[in-house]
Amino acid sequence: MTLDADLRSLARRLSPGARITVLTGAGVSAASGVPTFRGPGGLWKDFRPEELATPEAFAHDPRTVWEWYDWRRQLVARCRPNRAHEVLALWSRRYESFALVTQNVDGLHERAGTQNVIRFHGSLWEVSCWDGCRTGSWLDETVPFPRLPPLCDSCGGDLRPGVVWFGEAIPTWALAAAERSLDCDVCLIVGTSSVVYPAAGLATEARRRGAFTAEINPEATPASGEVELALPGKAEEILDRLERILTRS
Ligand code: OAD
Repeated sequence: MTLDADLRSLARRLSPGARITVLTGAGVSAASGVPTFRGPGGLWKDFRPEELATPEAFAHDPRTVWEWYDWRRQLVARCRPNRAHEVLALWSRRYESFALVTQNVDGLHERAGTQNVIRFHGSLWEVSCWDGCRTGSWLDETVPFPRLPPLCDSCGGDLRPGVVWFGEAIPTWALAAAERSLDCDVCLIVGTSSVVYPAAGLATEARRRGAFTAEINPEATPASGEVELALPGKAEEILDRLERILTRS
C-alpha cells in the first residue's frame, strides 16, 4: 500500500468513539529544535548517560549534572510546540478517551494544551529535594538558575532535576496510568527509538490487549516489525496529513 492509502486506513480507525493512546519520544520535539538522544546530532553522541543521567553521577558531581540540565532548560525555554504537538493536543480535546504517555521531559505537549499527559520520565521543569526532606517534586521554572546546584528552600540541601534517571523506577502513578491507557482501540507510537524500557514495552502490551498499533518514525526501530502499521515519516508531517484527512471527512 502507498503511504497515502495507509494514512486513510489509519484515519478510518480514528473514528469519533475510538479510544486512543499515543506513546511519544524525543522525535516529536525534533522539529521544535529539541535534540533527540540517539541518531545523528543526538545528545548521547556528545554526552555519556552514566555521567549525567544517573543517581550515581549526581552523588559524585551534582554541579556537572545540573549544568547539563540547566543548559537543556535554557534550550527548551526557547522552543515552541510544533505541528505534531498541536495535532495531538487537538485530539486530546476531541476524543473522549485519549491518553498520551510521553518519555519527553521538555513539557511541549503540555504547552501545546494536550490533556491527559502521562509523564513517564518526569519533567525538566520540576525539581525535588535530593535529601528527600519533602516528598515528590514541584514546579520550578527558573531559567537559568543563579546558582548550581540550586538549593532546597526547606532544608538547604541540593535540589535535583525532577526527571527519572537510568536505574530509577518510573513513578508509580505514571506506570499505573500508562498501563490503564493500554486498554485502547488504537495505539500510536510516535518519534521514539523504542529501546528504553519499560516505555518500549508499552506498545507490545497494548497490542496484546487488542489495540491496533501504528508507528510514526522516519527510521525503522525495534517496534517497526511488531506494529500493524509502520508509517515512515516525520511526526509533524504524518500527523498533519492524518488530521487533514480526519477533518475533510
Ligand atoms: P531517541 O533519541 O532514542 O529516539 C528518537 C527517535 O525519534 C528516533 O527513532 C528517530 O528516528 C525519531 N525521529 C527523529 N526525528 C523525528 C521526527 N521529526 N518525527 C518522528 N520521529 C523522529 O529518543 P527516545 O526514544 O525518546 O531517557 O529516548 C527514550 C529515552 O532515552 C529518553 O526518554 C531518555 C533517553 O535516554 C532518559 O533520559 C531516562
